[in-house]
Amino acid sequence: MAYLLGIDIGTSGTKTVLFDLSGKTIASDTQEYPLYQPQNGWAEQDPEDWWRATYTSIRNVLNKSGVEAGEIKGVGLSGQMHGAVLLDKEDKVLRKAIIWCDQRSARECEEITSRVGAKRLIEITANPALTGFTASKILWVRNHEPEIFEQVRKILLPKDYIRLCLTGETATEVSDASGMQLLDIPNRQWSDEVLEKLELDKSMLGKVYESQEVTGQVTQKAAALTGLKPGTPVVGGAGDQAAGAVGNGIVKQGLISSVIGTSGVVFAYTDKVSIDPEGRVHTFCHAVPNTWHVMGVTQGAGLSLQWFRNQFCQEEVSAAKLLDVDVYQLTDKGAALSSVGANGLVYLPYLMGERTPHLDPDCRGVFFGLSAKHTKRDMIRAIMEGVAFSLRDCLSIIEKMGIPVEEVRASGGGGKSPLWRQIQADVFGKPLYTINSSEGPALGVALLAGVGAGLYKSVPEACEATVKVVTHQAYQEENHQKYEGYYKLYTTLYTSLKNDFKTLAGLQG
Ligand code: XUL
Repeated sequence: MAYLLGIDIGTSGTKTVLFDLSGKTIASDTQEYPLYQPQNGWAEQDPEDWWRATYTSIRNVLNKSGVEAGEIKGVGLSGQMHGAVLLDKEDKVLRKAIIWCDQRSARECEEITSRVGAKRLIEITANPALTGFTASKILWVRNHEPEIFEQVRKILLPKDYIRLCLTGETATEVSDASGMQLLDIPNRQWSDEVLEKLELDKSMLGKVYESQEVTGQVTQKAAALTGLKPGTPVVGGAGDQAAGAVGNGIVKQGLISSVIGTSGVVFAYTDKVSIDPEGRVHTFCHAVPNTWHVMGVTQGAGLSLQWFRNQFCQEEVSAAKLLDVDVYQLTDKGAALSSVGANGLVYLPYLMGERTPHLDPDCRGVFFGLSAKHTKRDMIRAIMEGVAFSLRDCLSIIEKMGIPVEEVRASGGGGKSPLWRQIQADVFGKPLYTINSSEGPALGVALLAGVGAGLYKSVPEACEATVKVVTHQAYQEENHQKYEGYYKLYTTLYTSLKNDFKTLAGLQG
């Protein structure tokens, strides 16, 4: 039998999943690791934790499945995007990776804009300078830790560091490289102009492949640690969003995904480069050759609920353990007992600043309208609604860019909640669909590995063979009408508070 392995190096853990060629999950394993926040708005992880989680989860999947390593025909890598892994001449990690949600590099964004020019930057990288993207993180290290920067010989994205560990190759692929702000997006290659203007050396970056291309083979050393067969091909793979989109079948016009993971993303396929002139949504290369995608990102989606759970839901966590259920089933039950509009409570999900639509590293989370009658249930529901409002911001910009929206597919951890899907449908005023697999990014890169190994002819053909719509949730007009008022208030609140967020950031030095 032939099998494919997808590995997703996420923010909370690495998930490795083994699939058969019909896209069915054979075995899966997740290994978690910590997130370090040394200062407000900073976020770092240890690349060695990612590697440990990767080889452990591969070994566990092989053990659980009983599949022979030789039956695995290809490996695909996916992962959190934008993180900067800095290596010295011996490929040793020089410092913890500054990851996607870190917001420390606002000054470096100004530096990038002034070195490259705002217009030229958007023409080449299809996006304005953003704290979330890798380039500003690299410049932050150069400006603040010159003694470390001097030793840097390689700069890799999270999943590409794992590729180096697995295959010994320094490489990346177009979809993830798009989020470094160093790629010429229309031409799908490193931009010599941006690199020169930022005084960064191209030799530090890996070779750029298309996502389905084979980038190397599992080495003897990695085989000994993982249990994989030496020589197993590893394809380019994709950043978690493009990978998740492939796993959701978002490989043709009209299909959109709404993903609630740690961050929240509304993702649309395009067959030409389309750019929002205000830079509120990102335009990146898609994991399908010669196609692109547009996505709006809200930084604190699942993160908001996870934060609330960790800080305020100890009872629910204990009860869930006793009942042997997911704690989010209990928080959902509570939220369902609140009402549309959370009894007059509005939540802004800006725990880690915001990208779409505000591009503001300084804004922060808000509960607006708290009164003595509010309960924990209302707060949970307000969080779920606030995240849906933020996703609607993303969807509206995509629609205004003229990108057709025919079918919205829900996914990510938050997409598993029927209540959160209903809230999204009601807030968007559109039906929401789900597909047969919830493995998103891991499935997406396993399919890319299948294309690379010659088991499917193309990415769309791989999706056709594996991805099927299984549920459909209609929106309720009455709820939609109620949400219209709350959504309007939600959008006004940011404008009212914009300067206050800056003042707050200033007070903390
Ligand atoms: C996408 C993004 C997130 C991270 C973490 O631009 O920042 O999707 O990749 O999931």
